[in-house]
Amino acid sequence: MNVIHRRGWELPESAATPERFFFDRRAFLAASGAVALSLSPTIARAQRAADAPDPSIDLYPAKRNGKYTLDRPITDEEKNLTYNNFYEFGSSKAVAKPAQALKIRPWTIKIDGMVEKEQEIGIDDLMRKVGIEERLYRHRCVEAWSMTVPWSGFPLAKLVELAKPLASAKYLQMETFLDKSVASGQRQSWYPWPYREGLTMAEATNELAFMVTGAYGKPVAKQMGAPLRLAVPWKYGFKSIKSITHFTFTDKQPKSFWESLQAAEYGFWANVNPEVSHPRWSQASEEVLGTGQRRPTLLFNGYGEYVADLYKGLEKERLWA
Ligand code: MTE
Repeated sequence: MNVIHRRGWELPESAATPERFFFDRRAFLAASGAVALSLSPTIARAQRAADAPDPSIDLYPAKRNGKYTLDRPITDEEKNLTYNNFYEFGSSKAVAKPAQALKIRPWTIKIDGMVEKEQEIGIDDLMRKVGIEERLYRHRCVEAWSMTVPWSGFPLAKLVELAKPLASAKYLQMETFLDKSVASGQRQSWYPWPYREGLTMAEATNELAFMVTGAYGKPVAKQMGAPLRLAVPWKYGFKSIKSITHFTFTDKQPKSFWESLQAAEYGFWANVNPEVSHPRWSQASEEVLGTGQRRPTLLFNGYGEYVADLYKGLEKERLWA
């Protein structure tokens, strides 16, 4: 898939995906063109099928929680499997093939920092302990495209409860795996690996904050962040960190991957707001992937009734970028 070609009509030349800070246009075109030729959706499907059976397969499909409804159709699964941001495996959208190198079992999650007791827990123990459900959520990338995904997983609040944070903890920091031997992107030393994100405790325990273990009625694909990723649908997609191995409770506001790289463009809060433009492009509307349509973007991506109260009294903060 050629991102620049696809987006030519919607964004000015100066507007960009984050990677264009680091790669010139010619190199980017060459790289994405090469990957597009080498990966077809059929190959991506075959690679997933070639994996050993997932030990959590019996938990799927999980029962849908009907509370979270949509205003648009679910994005075609094939689209979601072949259009991803996962910089650990490259800076184009065509990361499905390289991401298959990620080994997702055993997968141990470390929980530390301001907690009663540090602990480590395997992904399968965690899932069976807390149980999973399905939720339909919209996903809005800062790059002005959106998808609609049937995620499976559990509320992040359940993990927080399991972790027993101290009253002094104010934030939850999350980190992705770090393994240069499988993730070629992590050999690019100008990025501040590992990928890192953070939420306030109030955000982390909001009912919408969801730990994803599955999508489309089965374990989530590697390129979508297996075996454990975040979905915070009222925020721009870069907050929804993939393939998490480490949760740290802290009293210091975490500095995220993109914030470390370009704080002027990617901040801590990153709540969706159609009226606050990204420095290089408008956020007023979004391309609904797979439909060829644009829609007006919604404040908090349409989830204001759940989250607007979290930001009362914080109006002086840079809440929207
Ligand atoms: N998590 C990690 N570890 N690495 C990434 O590059 N990209 C983010 C987010 N989480 C990213 C990540 C961005 S910019 C987006 S829009 C979403 O993942 C994309 O999720 P998707 O590929 O499932 O659509």
